[in-house]
Amino acid sequence: MDQVKVEKMTTDDVDEVFQIEELIHPEHHWSKDSFYNELANKLASYYCVKDNSGKILAYIGFWKIIDEAHITSLAVHPDYRKKQLAQVLLIQAVNDCYKDMIKYITLEVRESNVPAIKLYEKFLFDSIGKRKNYYQDNGENAIIMFTQNIWYDTFKNNFKNLSDSINKVSVSYDK
Ligand SMILES: CC(C)(COP(=O)(O)OP(=O)(O)OC[C@H]1O[C@@H](n2cnc3c(N)ncnc32)[C@H](O)[C@@H]1OP(=O)(O)O)[C@@H](O)C(=O)NCCC(=O)NCCS
Repeated sequence: MDQVKVEKMTTDDVDEVFQIEELIHPEHHWSKDSFYNELANKLASYYCVKDNSGKILAYIGFWKIIDEAHITSLAVHPDYRKKQLAQVLLIQAVNDCYKDMIKYITLEVRESNVPAIKLYEKFLFDSIGKRKNYYQDNGENAIIMFTQNIWYDTFKNNFKNLSDSINKVSVSYDK
């Protein structure tokens, strides 16, 4: 992996993030205003992965409410997939959750989205149910995924192994 850094998303990043959003989801993407609103929301945390030149390659967003985090958005630019960037973002998010004493992380994912489901399973998210016809564009079902308590040894040991498997020289995380 080339050198990348994880940084908090700022309003200056929104135009570039929006370009990726439009590229990935031509018909059902978030608006720029959705991102601005999220960045202004104290419950929300958003991070980007950037390369050496500052180009945005990937981003994640999540809400932390009491002891639960909800991942709202995760995307990697199509030209930069399968380079562990989604894993880097999840590692940043989980470490953030540890800092804020979060216990559980949850999300919804399209039933057909095998790459994302496999990614979350790698982080020990389990499917716990479905939301029928959740997605308005095509009526697709959402799978609801949840971690076990992230402070349990099974989760922590797996998370440590995943974190160790990323080349630390190549990645700098947001403190
Ligand atoms: C899903 C997505 C975020 C993965 O990003 P990525 O940076 O390519 O993923 P990584 O390289 O970090 O891969 C981590 C793991 O995810 C899974 N994965 C990623 N791409 C996969 C694919 N095409 N097929 C199957 N599993 C895949 C694998 O388990 C992989 O681990 P491995 O390399 O040991 O097999 C990316 O494909 C994407 O942006 N998709 C469109 C947006 C989206 O679906 N977001 C999730 C919404 S819930």
